[in-house]
Amino acid sequence: MSASTAKRGILPPDIEARKGGTPLVVLTAYTTPVAKLVDAHCDVALVGDSLGMVVYGLPSTLAVTMDMMIAHGQAVMRGLTRAMCVIDLPFGSFEESPAQAFRNASRLLAETGAAAVKLEGGVHMAETIAFLTARGVPVMAHIGLTPQAVNALGGYKVQGRGEDAARVLADAKAVADAGAFAVVLEKVPQRLAREITEAVAIPTIGIGAGKDCDGQVLVADDMLGMFTDFRPKFVKRFGNLAEVADRAIADYAAEVRARSFPAPEHSFDT
Ligand code: KIV
Repeated sequence: MSASTAKRGILPPDIEARKGGTPLVVLTAYTTPVAKLVDAHCDVALVGDSLGMVVYGLPSTLAVTMDMMIAHGQAVMRGLTRAMCVIDLPFGSFEESPAQAFRNASRLLAETGAAAVKLEGGVHMAETIAFLTARGVPVMAHIGLTPQAVNALGGYKVQGRGEDAARVLADAKAVADAGAFAVVLEKVPQRLAREITEAVAIPTIGIGAGKDCDGQVLVADDMLGMFTDFRPKFVKRFGNLAEVADRAIADYAAEVRARSFPAPEHSFDT
């Protein structure tokens, strides 16, 4: 497809321009079929490093690699026609230096076709965000609870309570000043999320941050009810796929054992 006939999907400036407007809808996608569903209803498909836990059963996101992100980013891009794809820089791929971040961010964008990267960190990542954005890499920042820092934070705890609010507010201002086009606020009190949303000129996208952000993001598998043993307070289950899938697999197993599947209509004549 030539550049002149290429479809123009949603791009970072379109997202940035949505500040204060109709809330942005963001959902994770790790595969082509889910990307197609997300594409039909959402503004952004996020290839989050949460895929390490959701798809690979890892205990945290720390062991997620560039190769994993690229493989899933490519799969997601095959399912998108309009929604924008944002892809996470995994732990260890960007913290060392702005140059390391550019090397890996440019690889993610070039090898997947995603429009932007997301990286975790506030004040201490501002220099890196400025370096990337000055070189044509759109950055979605991620502050508050940053899961890649789970060990340093002592668990997946709410961030920015009480006097800690000033730190998270400073992080938000730093990433906005550095040129991020949007910022994810994870697991911060609703009042602080509202204050940040009023204080920065870029859209805030909340997860466990209350209703006053400029948009919301969830992990698709969580909101679809794919897990029976994981129910964080901030996830509303909009579906119950685990129950539906469990029933379907139980029925399949029963029919195979009873030799009632496959039936004639599933079989071929000579
Ligand atoms: O990795 C991820 O899916 C994320 C979202 C939860 C924001 O970072």
